[in-house]
Amino acid sequence: MKIAIIGLGFVGLSFASVLASKDYKTVGIDVDKNKCEKISKCDLPFFEPSLERTLRNGLKKGLVIGNDFSLIDGCDFIFVTVGTPQRPNGAIDLSMIKKAVSSIGKILCKNNKNPIIIIKSTVVPGTMKNVILPILEKESNKKAGDDFGLISNPEFLQESNAIKDTKFPHAVVLGGYQTKYMIKAKNFFSKLHPNTPIIITNHQTAEMIKYANNSFLATKISFINQLSNICQNIPGANIDDVAKTIGLDPRIGKSFLNAGPGYGGSCLPKDMKALINFANKIGIKSTLLKEVEKTNQKQITNIISILEEEIGNLKTKRITVLGTAFKPETDDIRDSTSIKLIKKLLEKGARITIHDPKAIENTKNMFGKKIKYKKSIIDSLIRSQCAIIMTQWKEYSKITNSTIRHMDKKIIIDSRRILADKNINANYHPIGIGYDK
Ligand SMILES: NC(=O)c1ccc[n+]([C@@H]2O[C@H](COP(=O)([O-])OP(=O)(O)OC[C@H]3O[C@@H](n4cnc5c(N)ncnc54)[C@H](O)[C@@H]3O)[C@@H](O)[C@H]2O)c1
Repeated sequence: MKIAIIGLGFVGLSFASVLASKDYKTVGIDVDKNKCEKISKCDLPFFEPSLERTLRNGLKKGLVIGNDFSLIDGCDFIFVTVGTPQRPNGAIDLSMIKKAVSSIGKILCKNNKNPIIIIKSTVVPGTMKNVILPILEKESNKKAGDDFGLISNPEFLQESNAIKDTKFPHAVVLGGYQTKYMIKAKNFFSKLHPNTPIIITNHQTAEMIKYANNSFLATKISFINQLSNICQNIPGANIDDVAKTIGLDPRIGKSFLNAGPGYGGSCLPKDMKALINFANKIGIKSTLLKEVEKTNQKQITNIISILEEEIGNLKTKRITVLGTAFKPETDDIRDSTSIKLIKKLLEKGARITIHDPKAIENTKNMFGKKIKYKKSIIDSLIRSQCAIIMTQWKEYSKITNSTIRHMDKKIIIDSRRILADKNINANYHPIGIGYDK
């Protein structure tokens, strides 16, 4: 069996590496030639725990990487994992996926193989039927369901846990018509993930499941953040104890109840916007989802209010931002709340120094010389008038009174409550813990 993965980002490269390391004959294709060259040498284009080891193993076992689409020739399964980023109006940008499936269609036109094309990229309901299928049939001059299979298979992995999630997904969703291709796909996934529930449904439901998942997670985060803001105004109240306890109720569950500066990353904000935009188009007003977004945006405003209460006008004030990655154990800063905070602070004339264990390069690509970058936490705090902890890197839990000794003003805003139990000798503001004003 030969498998192609098209689009070697977090999703595609993790999947290709896992498949090859499990002895599937795998080819990985990406339009970015430089990226392909790096990956072939096991030089990762981004940081993801365990990926390097898995990729190295995959390459040893024959994983082929390239930018030439003819590599899909003779493949039984062709997975599409290209990006579907956000357009300015909130809708998803389908240009990459259109290009990718058009390239696949052209190759199908020339060969006699009957592959199954599986779309893992996140797309709004109807995209498979109204956009992807027509392009494939036109370019290949063949019929979906007869000459090739077409299946929606949304991906649920989380960055920083991508390899584990790829190996052990909580569910596999297969959307499409009940053809021989669906049976083959089901057999493939049952072997790849024994004991994992496989949900077989139609295209539009599979597409919707992905948005249901992410919009629910975003709702959970905004819910706990709103409660965190209430706790912050009740002297002594602690959001972590609230979250831990309600999380023990199996009807609620403990994940995604970690109050903080709001959700970010390449998926939740974009998928929320895409769902709201899609619902609007079909005449549904997503009142709840819009409030979830508003609550999320407000978290940064809350941090800036605390900062201004403490140090007044921010013009020329020296602020240290600890953490720019959207979560720990990644270097991904796409839609990171920390990046949004830095932009707002720059608008107000503040002078920013940042520290992040993995994301300095990506942050530099975004801000260049507008801000300063330090490799050590202590250095980032020298002469600082306020430190804001944004990302829950475990390094920040090691901050002590000695680490902050060179700060000009010892003010710390801790959006993750990492130092709450530490007796830090500073004007300390843990988000979500009530204190007397
Ligand atoms: N990152 C996540 O945590 C995550 C989780 C679940 C689902 N998803 C979804 O999976 C999809 C991929 O996400 P990602 O984060 O891996 O994206 P990414 O931006 O990290 O990578 C996408 C890759 O596709 C390549 N590409 C673009 N156009 C191409 C084309 N025509 N042919 C071949 N390659 C092409 C790009 O060069 C890039 O390397 C998106 O739809 C995303 O919403 C992402």
